[in-house]
Parts: sequence; structure tokens; C-alpha cells
Amino acid sequence: MSTDLTTDPTTAPVVAARGAEPTLPAEVAGPAGRLTTSAAVLEGYADSLMQTFGTPKRVFVRGEGCYVWDAEGRRHLDLLAGIAVNALGHAHPTVLSAVTGQIATLGHVSNFFATPAQVALAQRLAAMVEPEGADDARVFFTNSGTEANEAAFKLTRMTGRTRIISTEGAFHGRSMGALAITHNPKYRAPFEPLPGEVEFVPYGDAEALAAVVDDTVAAVVLEPLQGENGIVVPPAGYLVRARELCDAAGALLWVDEVQTGMGRTGSWLAHVEEGVRADVVTLAKGLGNGFPVGACVARGRAASLLPAGSHGSTFGGNPVAAVAGLAVIAVIERDGLLAHAREMGEHLVAGVTALAHPLVAEVRGRGLLRGIVLTAPVAAAVADAALDAGFIINAPRPHVLRIAPPLVVTAEQLDSFVAALPALLDAAGAAA
Ligand SMILES: Cc1ncc(COP(=O)(O)O)c(C=O)c1O
Repeated sequence: MSTDLTTDPTTAPVVAARGAEPTLPAEVAGPAGRLTTSAAVLEGYADSLMQTFGTPKRVFVRGEGCYVWDAEGRRHLDLLAGIAVNALGHAHPTVLSAVTGQIATLGHVSNFFATPAQVALAQRLAAMVEPEGADDARVFFTNSGTEANEAAFKLTRMTGRTRIISTEGAFHGRSMGALAITHNPKYRAPFEPLPGEVEFVPYGDAEALAAVVDDTVAAVVLEPLQGENGIVVPPAGYLVRARELCDAAGALLWVDEVQTGMGRTGSWLAHVEEGVRADVVTLAKGLGNGFPVGACVARGRAASLLPAGSHGSTFGGNPVAAVAGLAVIAVIERDGLLAHAREMGEHLVAGVTALAHPLVAEVRGRGLLRGIVLTAPVAAAVADAALDAGFIINAPRPHVLRIAPPLVVTAEQLDSFVAALPALLDAAGAAA
């Protein structure tokens, strides 16, 4: 029997082009029905979308599990999962049936009304943020991580204090509020002045935090591991110390788990795993498996800081988005994906480390959020070569490759990438 390269997970991806893939549903395509090839979509993209993201590297039309296919039927192993989003992989049957079932029943009502889905998801998230069951966490739903942080930013203003301490290298989103706590000057400079008063201290440096956190500080905002800055892991005890400093100063500890949360690092929330309880937690990405859903979850006194009328969102808490979140949580629990993420993360580290490739300095991160740190700034070239070979990864920093696959990724799938990696590194190293 011949091997079907399009479905056999042990074969190298991309090689299998199986011809035209479905693109748009015929009954809604209208004049766009001609967008059946990658070239046609890219041409249309250039003419119809703002160029905020530059030129797309590929056009994808279908996904299943850890694979996505382009319009010409070329398969790619998705080791980025839409940047830490598709936790259950593509087209997961439980998400599919939850979302289609909900939209067939009740797709949307305004926030003048409540739905069971919204309340059920809020209860699940509250229990994650407050696992001891103190029952004092409250949720504000959004459609993205940026909006979750925007809600958190507004919440901090209700403390009566205005100073916020953020960290160098931090990324929290691109709206004016989220950008104000994001560090990268390239993102910030064109849009200044940004809402104040935000100060940045070196990430992972507890003494630098201690030097600035006093009783004028409204909040300290931290990622448990910095994602966009290249999967930077702080020293052990950093978050615990941040908690102590906030407690002593009466400041809120705001932990941004948009990238690290929902099982990505092998636990529901990375900071909770470290024994820390934040006052405000922001979530998105993996929460909806690709359906847009985010949340700002606050505990204790922070839970009641945004009174009626102080904030809002038309779509936030939408029942379809909420059941997507419930489906993600149910499958992660049912299939033991937290333990699987930890195991696969270790498997990847062992495989890449065993290569002993001169371009690899170290593999850092936790669970299935990993950074392969290179000894030369060639990460973008390696990521491009990987894409040509059928592996989706990215380069958040010039020296760092990010691997953030679906949590359902298998050891064989990771091994296929590890086997291809030396050639990808060699090519990029030689070109540098
Ligand atoms: C830690 C963190 N916070 C916030 C965001 C912004 O989330 P979104 O792109 O969903 O608005 C991101 C996105 O990469 C992120 O990594």
C-alpha cells in the first residue's frame, strides 16, 4: 500500500501537493470566487488590505490537527499554531460541534442580557485564577489580548493611583493603552504621547522592581515568561517577589497570560503554577482555539473596581466565543493536554539539544512555548527556510526561533522538525 503523504504524520511535510484545495464557500464567495490560487489571493491582498503586516508568506485554506494546507494542496506542519492560539490544533471536532451548535441555537445577544455560555466560561476562568475557590474573582470578556489589557489598564486607574510599572522587552498589544505598557520603541514612537504614567524596569530583576514600587504605584504588569521578546524566562522567585512588593505597596499585580496561559506552558496559568496569585490576569490566544475570545479576570478588591457603565464591548462574552473557550478547557482536561504539553516540551528540548549544532546556544521556555536561541542573528532566515521545507515557526527576535505548536502535537511530528533542523541552520549559517 502506498503511503498517503498528505495524512501520514511521520513523513516530511510540504512535499505532498495534492492539487487544488477548497477556498471559499461558493454561496458566499461572490466575485471573490476567483481567489482559488495563492497568487490570486496575494494579488488581492496587496490591493485590498492595509500593509500593516507586510507581505504574507503563504496563503492557507484548510487545517486539520497540526497541519495546514495552501491553495495548491501543499501541507505544512504548524509548529506556531497561529502564534500560540490553536491549542487543540485545527478543526478540532469538539470545538467545531460546540461552536456550530451554539451559533445554530443563539449566536449573539447584547450585553444587556446574559447567556449560560458566558457565565459557564467565567466560572471556569475564575476557578483557574483562584484555584483555592475563594469565589472572589470576576471576569470581563473581550475579543483579544489587547482588549483584555486595555480593560486591565482602565481598571488600574480606578485605584486612585496612576503609576504603572512595566518591563523592558514587554509586549502587551497595540491599542494606545496596551502600547503604553509595551516596551519596543519601534512600536511606540510613532504614536506618542501614550497614556501615562508608565515606567519600565529590566525584566527578571526583582531589585529593580523593589527600587520603584512604592505606595504611588497602581499596578505592576508582568508576563510570566516574555513571549514576543524571545521566550525569556525570569529567575526563579521573580513573580513571588513581585507579589510581595505589590502587597507591601498596596499595588495591584497584573499578570499578562495572553501568550503563556491556557495550558501553553504545561499548566493552566504559568503564575499560578509558581504559587503566585495575581490581582488581575489577562487571557486570550489559546482560550478560543482560533475563535476570538479574551478575558480580563480580577480578584479581591480588583474584581469590583470597574463599576456599571465604566467599560464595555459589543462582542465580549458572545456565546459562540464562550462555548469555544469551554470546549478548549474541556478537551485539555479530558485528554490530559497539560501533562502532554510538558512532556512534548521536554522531548523537543532533548531532541534539539542532542543535535549539538554550533548555531544553537540553548533551548529555553516552558511546556510548549519554546525559544531556540541561536549564536548568530539568523533566526528570520531559518524560519523562512523552515517554511520552504514545510514547517511553520517564527523568529520573534533576531537570535530566537519560537516553537509554539498545538498542545496535541506528537513526538513524531516534533521529531520530523528536529530531523530537518540541522540543514535549515546550515543553510542560514552559510548565507550569513
Ligand atoms: C503577552 C501578550 N499580551 C498581549 C498580546 C496581544 O494580544 P492580541 O494580539 O490578541 O491583541 C500578545 C500578543 O502577542 C501577547 O503575547
